Amino acid sequence: MRKLMVAGNWKMHGDRALAGELAAASRDAATARVDVELVLAPPFTLLATLAQALAGSPVALAGQDVSGHAQGAYTGEVSAAMLAEAGCSHVLVGHSERRQYHGETDEQVAAKFIAAQKAGLVPILCLGESRQEHESGQTEAVVGRQLATVIEAAGAAAMEHSVLAYEPVWAIGTGLTASPEQAQAVHAFLRSQIAGRDVRIAGLIRILYGGSVKPDNAAGLFAQADIDGALVGGASLVAADFAAIAAAAPN
Ligand code: PGA
Repeated sequence: MRKLMVAGNWKMHGDRALAGELAAASRDAATARVDVELVLAPPFTLLATLAQALAGSPVALAGQDVSGHAQGAYTGEVSAAMLAEAGCSHVLVGHSERRQYHGETDEQVAAKFIAAQKAGLVPILCLGESRQEHESGQTEAVVGRQLATVIEAAGAAAMEHSVLAYEPVWAIGTGLTASPEQAQAVHAFLRSQIAGRDVRIAGLIRILYGGSVKPDNAAGLFAQADIDGALVGGASLVAADFAAIAAAAPN
């Protein structure tokens, strides 16, 4: 049985006041649902505040991005070891906004995945197709390529200590969600790609769905066999909504 994960990606939002509010709500949600793993991915500047506010709770912290380099002259970047020291156990890699606005390639995403694991972090590897790729029927080709580049670089065994997040770009922040059936089909495809390399890991790996997940559509998504949780953007900034999404997990 895979433990459901609900992760909140705050993107470039939030301040200390909001961090306090969301930490309190997440602590309560984690107490109410010990069977759901909660992860918060705030901006780097709020990691220390949250590490303190979440101390002693099972709520995990994630970076939103990480350097592919261990250290050095890379102004503006943050290494995996720095994230670990700041209290992170997880990190998002390859979010579509990084790929789209910062030109991150599949190879760079793979380097970040490897750097994260070297520092003991669990990478949450984001995969997803653009609207145009979706409309031209390239979804499997695109997410398959994004995943394969990481598997080739890191090795199939590395997938055991990772989480996947399928986030169709056309559904992020648009209010358009993939239907549960559409998402399920892509999740099953991704799991089959892992199974082609390692059947045991394919059974263990969690595949989150992201893209306009809200309290009213979460249960339908979680009911799908291959959807193991959610990567939540906008709704993770509203304490009641984030808690409601965790509560929508099947018991
Ligand atoms: P959204 O964002 O829930 O606001 O669509 C999801 C994400 O980008 O991780």
